[in-house]
Amino acid sequence: MRVARLQDAVIGSYLALPIHGDGGRLMLGTGTRLSKRLVESLKSRGYTKVAIKDPMVGDIELDEAISVETRIQAEVALTKSVTKLLAGRTPDLGPVYDAVDAIIGDLSKNSRTTSGLFSIQSYDSDTYTHSINVCVLSICIGRCLDWSFHKVRELGVGALLHDVGKIVMPLGLLNKPARLTDEEYGIIKTHCEKGWGLLSECFDAGSIVSKSAMEHHERLDGSGYPKSLIENQISDIGRVTAVADVYDAMTTDRPHRRAIFPETVYAHMTQAKGVLFDGTAVDGLFSQVALYPTGTILSIWGGYIAVVTAQDPRSNFRPYVRIVGGPGITKPIDVSLYSRPDIKINLLLDDYPADSRSMIADELQGIALPTEK
Ligand SMILES: [Fe+2]
Repeated sequence: MRVARLQDAVIGSYLALPIHGDGGRLMLGTGTRLSKRLVESLKSRGYTKVAIKDPMVGDIELDEAISVETRIQAEVALTKSVTKLLAGRTPDLGPVYDAVDAIIGDLSKNSRTTSGLFSIQSYDSDTYTHSINVCVLSICIGRCLDWSFHKVRELGVGALLHDVGKIVMPLGLLNKPARLTDEEYGIIKTHCEKGWGLLSECFDAGSIVSKSAMEHHERLDGSGYPKSLIENQISDIGRVTAVADVYDAMTTDRPHRRAIFPETVYAHMTQAKGVLFDGTAVDGLFSQVALYPTGTILSIWGGYIAVVTAQDPRSNFRPYVRIVGGPGITKPIDVSLYSRPDIKINLLLDDYPADSRSMIADELQGIALPTEK
């Protein structure tokens, strides 16, 4: 199995994992052959990646942080809450808390999240998927910072609902396949206050949950929005949600650009520690997320093609890989990149754009790029 971009190259491949649609409904089962029509249909529904069978790679287990069932539970809870809010009614937040409890439970049980590295694979660019990812990443950071269970739970609920203000944003702007104009960006920026307003209907005044919605685009140096808060004016909940939000946004396909590779995002977010982002939150995040997610296809030194087969807790830069192509390769060869520091990862095939360095500069608002290693 490997994770591949949903493009013509996957036509004729067989799904290695099922695809679920709205509300967790099974849309395509494992083993489904991807025809051109199916690929186009998935693309039109916002899907960007698929897990496909690859005989050279064989069976590998992806390092997802939470189970499919928990993800579906969170999506259903989020959908119901948002529908109620849109109708001007106060949602029952019980299912949202239950979903966050399920996520915390999964993270506590999963050996990858308790002692190793994990990744967040986004198979679509849906706002709900993003919200669930930000919730998972925020909880991981909160736990890393030794926050109490109660505070981590509130952080999780706030992170799950952090972009709720987007439900009242024009859909044409959210899905615009090009950069927003200044005027359009000004409209999108109001989603923070709109979200805070919606959540204020559900939570007591001063609740920390609403702070995620209001403050997740604030930056330590005052360059964020909506209030240009600086440093400790931003709550710890806001600072953690900001780090989780930026990481997931940058490593996921967006309507106007493709996903940026996690290792590149790491380099830039690390450089922005203490300037844009809370350093302890950034360190907490990168002590846990895999910079080369399992299932990713790589090009390594010597012209070989390899697939990441497992994470190595000793380093999130040097995973286990299976060489599946290149000079003289007739059968797969497993290699520990940690044990072979001489093997350089040259470039990433297929799934990530070559110009991610300039795209990330835009996202980080002018922070200087690090020099090439
Ligand atoms: Fe946002």
